[in-house]
Amino acid sequence: MTDNSSKTFVPPSGVERGETHGLASVRVQTAAATGLVYLQGAHVAEWTPQGQSPVLWLSEKTNYQPGKALRGGIPICFPWFGPHRTHQEYPQHGFARTMDFEYVGARLDREGRAELEFVLGENAKTRGFFPHAFEARLRVAFGQSLALAFSVTNRDSTAFDYEEALHSYFHVADVRKIAVSGLCGAKYLDKVRGMAEFTESADELALSGETDRVYDSAASCTIADSLGQRSLRIEKAHSRNTVVWNPWAEKAAQMADFEASAWPTMLCVESANVGPARVSLAPGETHTLEVEVRVSSARP
Ligand code: BG6
Repeated sequence: MTDNSSKTFVPPSGVERGETHGLASVRVQTAAATGLVYLQGAHVAEWTPQGQSPVLWLSEKTNYQPGKALRGGIPICFPWFGPHRTHQEYPQHGFARTMDFEYVGARLDREGRAELEFVLGENAKTRGFFPHAFEARLRVAFGQSLALAFSVTNRDSTAFDYEEALHSYFHVADVRKIAVSGLCGAKYLDKVRGMAEFTESADELALSGETDRVYDSAASCTIADSLGQRSLRIEKAHSRNTVVWNPWAEKAAQMADFEASAWPTMLCVESANVGPARVSLAPGETHTLEVEVRVSSARP
């Protein structure tokens, strides 16, 4: 997981600010990995460890207009997940994914990865949706593994609560041929079946249709992608939910930023704290959701 100790920013070589598709971005190109983060949403859009093909899925029809959510990579959902509980007109998945974060800087972390840091504080716009003083911070380290730490600090004089998700889109060879392990025994709410509750009985979850589930699970997961000849290990800490989502053919065809034929090549396995697992912070408190992704090659 990400090293918290170093506070000094010494930009490692291979980290450069610039513009990509007209949006401010930071690009990482080191011997260990390449990566790309947009300042809008502190949105990790690419991560390719050396010797691998891209691990994160990004739609070719993504809308790169300022203020529009990108389709793919790792959107940050904060301070709510899905539709807002009382204001349906508020943006789905919160405002963080469409707001500009400040780029704080880069350094090498303890593992030798290029670690970038981004911060979003409260402002007039956030107060309109969420009347609290907060600081949200993403640290993301690019190397042979990808480590993310999303921290929220309560800077207010009263407590508040929030939902959050690192909404990771992973690239798979064919979602109909993968298996997700780590969720067996966990209860889940199935959004495709009217939010009914079930208990996962599969050691190796296979998908055969539209899937949109919120698992009550703090466990790490593995996506075995035998056709793609690799496995993705998703380790997490301080996350009580895992969301598994693929829209399948019909829903994908209805989404303007999703090429109709691309749905088989993605799977979202999201590390989250939502609903009853939402985070409560007393004044001055910080909560950090951590995720680390590793790829291992598996030759059949
Ligand atoms: C998932 C939700 O996390 O995100 C789905 O569980 C939702 O219900 C999906 O459709 C995509 O959301 P959006 O807002 O990016 O289209």
